Amino acid sequence: MSLFASFEGWMKTVQVHVEDALEALLPPAAAQPARLHAAMRYTVLGGGKRVRPLLVFAAGGLFGAETAVLARAAAAVEMIHAYSLVHDDMPCMDDDALRRGQPTVHVAYDEATALLVGDALQAQAFAVLAEDPDTPPARLVAMLRVLATAAGSAGMCGGQAIDLASVGISLTLDQLERMHQLKTGALLAAAVMLGALAGRDVSAAEREALAAYSNAIGLAFQVVDDVLDATADSATLGKTAGKDAAANKPTYVSILGLEQSQLLAEKLRRAAHDALAPFGDKAQRLRDLADLIVQRKA
Ligand code: IPE
Ligand code: IPE
Ligand code: MG
Ligand code: MG
Ligand code: MG
Repeated sequence: MSLFASFEGWMKTVQVHVEDALEALLPPAAAQPARLHAAMRYTVLGGGKRVRPLLVFAAGGLFGAETAVLARAAAAVEMIHAYSLVHDDMPCMDDDALRRGQPTVHVAYDEATALLVGDALQAQAFAVLAEDPDTPPARLVAMLRVLATAAGSAGMCGGQAIDLASVGISLTLDQLERMHQLKTGALLAAAVMLGALAGRDVSAAEREALAAYSNAIGLAFQVVDDVLDATADSATLGKTAGKDAAANKPTYVSILGLEQSQLLAEKLRRAAHDALAPFGDKAQRLRDLADLIVQRKA
């Protein structure tokens, strides 16, 4: 996958690898218990922008990783993300009926199935990564640890807990940033790190540059998610628009206003580019993805 290919062409190629890997690494729909497996496949194979897998491949390309290893790591992080969406949409959390343009899992199936889909996808993500036949065990343990930390209470789940505890109250900008970094940034940062670790050794300076990049895109991603919730329509988003205000959630839009939020996203896009300076032209795909994250319309 040459850097000379267009970004669109590169994305299409990566997305084919990722869809193939997900298809192959999920339990077959006919395997028992078939209803749970059908619901897992409904959840994961039903679309989505696949931003985290794209980050795995972009960072992996920079560190010379093999496609097969990246496809597996990308599938693992996407399974964690998909599980987080299933639980995020449940009545005890955001109570949402639409996701990726389709009924949410608890609506299409039932609540208990949605709970189990999340549980099973989380476990499947770690199994898939642990079963990588091509990566040395010590490196694999480092990758598993990155994913586990990002998914757990010091990462996505912690951010979701803060999100739920913040309904109806006002947060300072620092508190809001922390919530966003955890609930969304942590998994995006893990995707970048997984891609890098799948390749050659990562120096301390490179780790620092990648962390600065990840902080910027992680926050930008959720700032833009908040902006889109307030400005786009449900058909475009494939999920219910306007629900943050309806649920009285503190967001960048509610605290900073729309215009300042958009300016912040643009500032973060530039910070992401700046962080990549040490890598030169070879980091172009990561730059492209920072642009995509900030400029996306859904
Ligand atoms: C939505 O994530 C939830 C957040 C973390 C903000 P995405 O916008 O990446 O959702 P999909 O995967 O494209 O459906
Ligand atoms: C969700 O944030 C972050 C997750 C960890 C899933 P949101 O609740 O804002 O995501 P959407 O808007 O429902 O996709
Ligand atoms: Mg939520
Ligand atoms: Mg939600
Ligand atoms: Mg949202």
